[in-house]
Amino acid sequence: MKKALSLLTVSAMAVSMLAGCGSSNTAATTAAATEAAKTETAAPAAAATEAATAAAEAGSADLADKKVGVCIYQFSDNFMTLFRTELQSYLESLGFKPENISIVDGANDQATQTNQIQNFITSGVDVLIINPVNSSSAATITDMVTAANIPLVYINREPDEQEEKRWADENMNVTYVGCDARQSGTMQGEIVADLENKGDINGDGKVSYIMIEGDPENVDAQYRTEFSVKALKDKGIEVEELDDQVGNWDQAQAQSLVANSLAQHGKDIEVVFCNNDAMALGALQAIEAAGETVGTDVYLLGVDALQEACENVKSGKQTGTVFNDHISQSHSAADAAVKYLKGESNDHYIGCDYVKVTTANVDDILASLG
Ligand code: BGC
Repeated sequence: MKKALSLLTVSAMAVSMLAGCGSSNTAATTAAATEAAKTETAAPAAAATEAATAAAEAGSADLADKKVGVCIYQFSDNFMTLFRTELQSYLESLGFKPENISIVDGANDQATQTNQIQNFITSGVDVLIINPVNSSSAATITDMVTAANIPLVYINREPDEQEEKRWADENMNVTYVGCDARQSGTMQGEIVADLENKGDINGDGKVSYIMIEGDPENVDAQYRTEFSVKALKDKGIEVEELDDQVGNWDQAQAQSLVANSLAQHGKDIEVVFCNNDAMALGALQAIEAAGETVGTDVYLLGVDALQEACENVKSGKQTGTVFNDHISQSHSAADAAVKYLKGESNDHYIGCDYVKVTTANVDDILASLG
C-alpha cells in the first residue's frame, strides 16, 4: 500500500501551482493549501502514521467479516489498474479479508457490469464501490443498489448533477469520490502558458493544437478538452484547433490518430493535448516516428502522472502531465465505505486535488508513486 502524497509536498506544490486555476473553488483551495504549508513540519510524521490511524479508526475487527464488491469499468485501463491495485491493498490494510474483497472487470460493457452488480446484490455484499461503464446509467444502478439497502460509493466517473442531488434529497447512502476534471484541464493549459514562448513555437502569434479526447461520455474527457484550451484563452493567448479526435483513453488509438494528424498538419502542430497519459504515450510514439522532437518541434501534455509519462517528463519527451491522485482517491473511497459500514454518513461528494507535473517537481511525484 502506498502512502498518500505527503502533505509537505502537496501543500508546497499546491500553493505555487493552483494560482490562476480556473476551477470555481480556487480561492478556497489555495487558502487551504497555504494553511497546510504553515504546518508543513508536522507533515511527514502525519503521513507515516496515516495508515495505522485509519486502520485503528475503522475498527479492523468489525471489518474482517464484511464483504465489499468493487466494479471497475475496464481492467485494461492503465489508470484504473493503479486505482484498483491501491484500493485492494488499502482495504486489506483496514482489516478486510482478501477473500471478502471481490473486484470485477466490466469489460467496458454496461450490460456486463449491471449483471455483476446484480450478482453482488444477490450474494449479499455489505457495500459496493462502483466505477460505472456509463455514468449515464448511474440512476438505474443507484436504484438497484439502494433498493437492496446496500451503501454505494461511486468512483472515477462522476454521475450528473441531477443524480447527485437526488442522493442528498432522498438521504441515500450514496457518494462520489473523485477530482474535478476542470482543474486538470486548466493545469494542462497553464503548463503551456507558462512556457517561455507560451506554446507559440513558430512565432505566428497563436498556439496551434490538436486535441486527443478520452471517452466522450466521460465528464473527465469533456472538461479536460474544454478547460485546457480555456486556460490559454483566459491568459489572452490566441489558439487555433487543427484537429480534435476521440482516442477513448487508449494508447494505440491515440498513436494512430496523432500519426494521421501529423501527416496532415506536420510542423504546424505546436501542442498535442491528450486527455490522459496513456494517450500521450501513444502520441509520443507517433511524434518520434514522424521524426519530431518534443520540446523543440511540439509540446505534449497528458493527465494522470503514470510512471512512464513521468519518466518522459523527466527526460523531456513529454512537456507535462497532471497527477490524478489514485492513492488519495482509492483511500477516500475505502474510508467512505467503512463509514457507511459503521452506520455513519458521508458527504455526497468527496473531492481531491490534481497536481501539475513538470520538470520542476517530477522527482517528488515519482518518489511518491514509489
Ligand atoms: C483517467 C483516465 C482513465 C479514465 C477512466 C480518467 O480520470 O485520467 O486515464 O482512462 O479516468 O474512466
